[in-house]
Amino acid sequence: MNFDQIIDRRGTHCAKWDLMQPLYGVAPADGIAMWVADMEFRPPDCVQDAVRAMADHGVYGYFGDDGRYREAIRWWMAARHGWAIDPAHVFTTHGLVNGTAMCLDAFTEPGDGVVLFTPVYHAFAKVIRASGRRLAELEMPVVDGHYVLDFDAFDAAMTGGERLLILCSPHNPGGRVWTRAELESVADFARRHDLILVSDEVHHDLTMPGQRHIPMAHVEGIADRLVMMTAASKTFNIAGAHVGNVTIADPALRDRFGARMAAFGMSPNSFGLHMVTAAYSPDGAAWVDALRRYLHANRTAFDAGIAAIPGLRSMPLQATYLAWVDFAGTGMERADFTRRVEQEARLAVNHGPTFGAGGESWLRFNLAAPRAQIEEAVARLHAAFADLQ
Ligand SMILES: Cc1ncc(COP(=O)(O)O)c(C=O)c1O
Repeated sequence: MNFDQIIDRRGTHCAKWDLMQPLYGVAPADGIAMWVADMEFRPPDCVQDAVRAMADHGVYGYFGDDGRYREAIRWWMAARHGWAIDPAHVFTTHGLVNGTAMCLDAFTEPGDGVVLFTPVYHAFAKVIRASGRRLAELEMPVVDGHYVLDFDAFDAAMTGGERLLILCSPHNPGGRVWTRAELESVADFARRHDLILVSDEVHHDLTMPGQRHIPMAHVEGIADRLVMMTAASKTFNIAGAHVGNVTIADPALRDRFGARMAAFGMSPNSFGLHMVTAAYSPDGAAWVDALRRYLHANRTAFDAGIAAIPGLRSMPLQATYLAWVDFAGTGMERADFTRRVEQEARLAVNHGPTFGAGGESWLRFNLAAPRAQIEEAVARLHAAFADLQ
C-alpha cells in the first residue's frame, strides 16, 4: 500500500496521461494529469495476484461458473454497506456507462425525457443524447457551500414526458453523500412523476471520515422502480477491466433488462470477473480503508492550498476523490482561469460545463495521486494565480 509511489503511466495507452495533450493541450512531459476519474495507484495485492495467476496459467478461454464472483459481490455489499442483495439479481455490464446505456434502452423510448440533477457526471448526458432521448437537466442550487435538491423547482420544471431519473449517489462532482431524508425525497419525486430511478453508486466505497453512504435500496417503497448500479472499478482502480454491476430486485424490471442484455449478446470479460472476485474480499477491504485515509489527507492538503488563493473555493468533499473548485470569486472569464490552470500551471483537469447546467465557473481536479503530485499541483496553482494574493 505505497500510495506515495509515483508510477509513470505515460505511453501505456492510459487515457488520463496519453490523451491530456490532444484533449487539454497540456504536455505529459511536464504536465500533471488530474482529469478522468481513475487513480495513480496499483490495486491491492489480492487483485494483482489474481491477474498474475491468470497470466501464469496462460489459457484465456471463455469464463464459466460465476458463483464465486456473485458471492464476492454479495459479501461486499453486506459487509461494507449493510445491503443484502440476492446474487441472482445482479447483471454484469461492460462498466456503468454501458450500464446506463442499457437502462435507457431497456426502460425508455427515443424522445423520452431523462432527468439529471446537474452538474453531474458528464457521460450520463452523452449517452442520453446519443441514444436519442431528451435530456432534462434540473440544476441543483448550492446552499451553505454544497449542492442541495430543490424539489419545488424540480417539480415545476417537469413536463410529463420524463420516464427515467439517474441519481449519482454519492454525487460526482461535488462529493455529496445524500442523507436518508434526501434519498427519501428523491424516491418520492420518482414516484410522483412515475420515473424509473437509476441510482449510480459507483463512488459508494470512497466516503470521507464521518460519512456514511446509504444505498438507495434501503429507502422504503422504491424497489418496484429501482435500478442499482455499482462497480469495483473506482474503488480498486480497475476501470479498464470494464465490469459494472446492475442490480434489480423487481422481477418485471429485471426481465426487461435481461431481455435487452440478451438481445445485445452481452457477456463479461474473464479478467474483469477474476479481478472483482479478488477485490471484494477482506484483503481488498483493508486496502480500501488505507486508501480512504490517504485520499482524505490529499483532500485536506489540496483544500488548504486552494483556500489560500483569493477567489477560489473547493467544495467540501463528503465522498469521491474529485475536487470541485469554483473560480467565480476571481471575477475572471472562464477562458482566462482555464488557460492559467492548463497553460501556466500545466494541469489537465475536467471543465465544469461538461457536467451540465451549473458547472460554468468550475473545474474538477482528480486527487487520487501520490501526495507529492498534489502538493506540486497546489504550488503551481499558487504561482498561476499569484497576482490575486
Ligand atoms: C458516477 C459515475 N458513473 C460511472 C462512471 C464510469 O463508469 P464505467 O467506467 O464503469 O463506465 C463514472 C466515472 O467517473 C462515474 O463517476
